Amino acid sequence: MRKKIVAGNWKMNKTYEEAIQLINDLNAGLNNLSHSTDEIIICPPALYLHEAATLTRDTAKVFTASQNCHTNESGAYTGEISVKMIKSVGATYSILGHSERRMYNHESDEMLRDKVNIALANNLKVIFCCGESLEIRSKNEYINFVKSQLENSLFHLSKEQFSSIVIAYEPIWAIGTGVTASKEQAQEMHYEIRYFIAAKYGSEVAEATSILYGGSCNPKNAKELFEQADVDGGLIGGASLVAADFISIIQSF
Ligand code: 13P
Repeated sequence: MRKKIVAGNWKMNKTYEEAIQLINDLNAGLNNLSHSTDEIIICPPALYLHEAATLTRDTAKVFTASQNCHTNESGAYTGEISVKMIKSVGATYSILGHSERRMYNHESDEMLRDKVNIALANNLKVIFCCGESLEIRSKNEYINFVKSQLENSLFHLSKEQFSSIVIAYEPIWAIGTGVTASKEQAQEMHYEIRYFIAAKYGSEVAEATSILYGGSCNPKNAKELFEQADVDGGLIGGASLVAADFISIIQSF
């Protein structure tokens, strides 16, 4: 059975003190909670990753992720962060391919393929983001667009490597807008993503792959989204910045 996962992408939010407060609040809330989520992944800014990993070490089912990594293991790349550094501070995952990085940092499918490769080579699992713009959706090209994102950055992987991939479908028009994909829209794309994976790697791999939804997911709409057959959890932005909201989403399964 595939894992149910709720991940919180803090993006570029929180000062150090605020970050520690949020981690402490999450620890306190989660330690007193029974829930059926299999993995909770906290994705703070890289500056706080070590502390996040250390402080949550004894909290059941909590893992940490970076929001990015570099294509090289080390070297003269001022300001960048390598997979070896991310691993060394205790993180388990890296988010790769977020639409904000594709847009503002010009990350191409090819660059993301390199990042996926170096992450997996260093035993860092990947939360791989895909998703279309409103323009692509309105032209009815969204399914083929997402398929090409997966093909270009992931489908060179072996079956074994693919088992370290979590997919996050994040339609760009739903990110930070308050316009959530309907449960039907989310289910349609998640079904298609699983179908592409099955066509490439077989149904066993497809059935074992967690596919998360992201984009204005909040405590009010999480339950109906998570109830969809092919939605295995969420990648949460804004609502992950408030401990009570994030915990409420974790309880939505
Ligand atoms: P919001 O939940 O703020 O829409 O952000 C979603 C997202 O981009 C998570 O990576």
